[in-house]
Order: sequence, then structure tokens, then C-alpha cells
Amino acid sequence: ALQDLQTLRDRLIAVAKEAGTIILSANPTPLTTSSKKNTADIVTQTDKAVESLIRTNLASHYPSFAFIGEETYHPGQTITDDPTFIVDPIDGTSNFVHGFPDVAVSIALVVEKLPTVGVVYNPFRDELWAAIKGHGVYHTTQSNSNNGNTTKQQQLLSPKSPLQGLSPACIAIDFGTDRQGPNFALNLKVFTTLLRTASDGGRFVNSLRCSGSAALAICRVAASQQDAFWECGSWAWDVAAAWCVLVEAGGVMVDGHPGGWNPPVDNRRYLAVRPATAGQREFVEEFWDVIGDDRST
Ligand code: IPD
Repeated sequence: ALQDLQTLRDRLIAVAKEAGTIILSANPTPLTTSSKKNTADIVTQTDKAVESLIRTNLASHYPSFAFIGEETYHPGQTITDDPTFIVDPIDGTSNFVHGFPDVAVSIALVVEKLPTVGVVYNPFRDELWAAIKGHGVYHTTQSNSNNGNTTKQQQLLSPKSPLQGLSPACIAIDFGTDRQGPNFALNLKVFTTLLRTASDGGRFVNSLRCSGSAALAICRVAASQQDAFWECGSWAWDVAAAWCVLVEAGGVMVDGHPGGWNPPVDNRRYLAVRPATAGQREFVEEFWDVIGDDRST
């Protein structure tokens, strides 16, 4: 029932804010003894502490729900049709370590492999995105009032203008920590095609932006601050909560295969397109042309 989902959403917001307090007070250093795969793939003690806090909190309220978290994920773990929390305790760990304020706590409830509740919270900007499937999305930001006190602004997102293809688009991209292999190769192909001039076989887009937090990038697409987000190599915990936000704002997520969300079987390729009064389908088709033969069916 909606009331239950609202209660659940409010609990996710509360625990995300609690996690935010820990993140703000931490002095992050990458752990040296970690199982991560290379020097770009960083984890801190705070990632682990925050995931543990969220997991314990959610288990106390929803003991029968499954849980998948970035820091406790193990190969072979799969997303089933059962209600499952999908959690990235710190999306943007590299930003966190460098003091770059694009850092988010990302918590989703996924039911039958579909994002059903999504909460994305950036403690550094005190910015919150929260959505329930079929019931809209809220974006709460901090803003300065005239007398210097901070006030909260809350808005319900809705489509604003038509999309007009790739050429005028500002596209958020990311590429994760893989620096070899098929995901990396496809990312490079897409980036270079988007940047090149038409006479060079490219699309000459207005701009590419890389912020280091897939969750926040997708939320910005939901708010139409950017036209699209592309990454080949995101994980379910990077995208699940923001996916719910995006769809509730009127955006679309394609090539994401909800039914195939079983890491690492999921091909982990995500194209998020902003809410628009027209032109979404044409935009997606133009982007699929760029992906070319690698496009999944
Ligand atoms: C990463 C961020 C980054 C994306 C990577 C993710 P993490 O999440 O979302 O933007 O490029 O693919 O793994 O590791 O900071 O939680």
C-alpha cells in the first residue's frame, strides 16, 4: 500500500541522513588492505561503516527483505523478484577521498527487479532526491535566503522542454575504474563519437560532463540539468535509487535490463534520458546509433 511505501521512504531518508552525518565527520583515507581490483578502485572505512549502519537499520524494520550492498556484494549474489534493498553507502568514493563534494548515499527498494522507492542524498550539499514508483519525486535543496540563513526548497519535477537530438545535448558520462576490457572499450568509442565533428564521423555534442557519482548524475538528468547520462560499467547499487527518481520525473532508462539485473550477468550499460515534452525516443535512437553493433536487444 502507498502508506507503507511512504513510511518506508521516510525511513530510507532518515537513515540516509544519519549516514550523511557519519560521512561529513569522517576523515577519509583509502583502505590499503581491500579486495578492490586496482588503484582507481577505492574503499574507505567509512564506506563499510555506513553500509553496516544502513543494513542494520533496514533489517530491524524489514527483516524479510533481501539486501545487496556494494561493500558486501559477492560474485554469485543475485537480485531476485523479492523485495530487495540495493545500497551504495557512498556513491562517489573517489570524490569523497579527494574532498570533491559529489558524494551520495544511494538506497533503493527494488520489487520484482523494478526500482520502487529511491532515495539519493548528498550530505555535502544537503540535497535530497526521493521517489516512489507511480507517485512522483521530490528534490529538496538548500538555498541561501537574503539574510544568510539557509532555507529549504522543495520541488516536484516535471518535463520542461523538448529534446532536440544529440547535437545540442549536455551529456553526463562516467567510466568507473575499469581501464581495460570490453566496457572500457565501448565507453571510449561512445565518448569519442560524441565528441568528434560530423565530418569526422562524430555527433559533435554540446558537452560531456563527468562528476564521479552515477547516482547524482542520473538525478541531475531527472531534474533536466543535463540531457542524458551514459555509462557502461555501472553497478545496480550505483543506479537503482536514481533510476526510480528519473522515471518518476518523466525520464527514461534504457539498455538497463531490469529483468537482467543479476550482477555480473547484467551487461551494466545505462542510458538515462531526461524528462521531455517530446523527442525522447528520437534521442534514444540516435544514441543507439552511436553504440552501434554493441547495442543489446
Ligand atoms: C562509482 C561512481 C562512478 C561510476 C562508477 C561507480 P562508487 O561508484 O558511481 O561515478 O563511474 O562506475 O562504481 O564506487 O564511488 O560507489
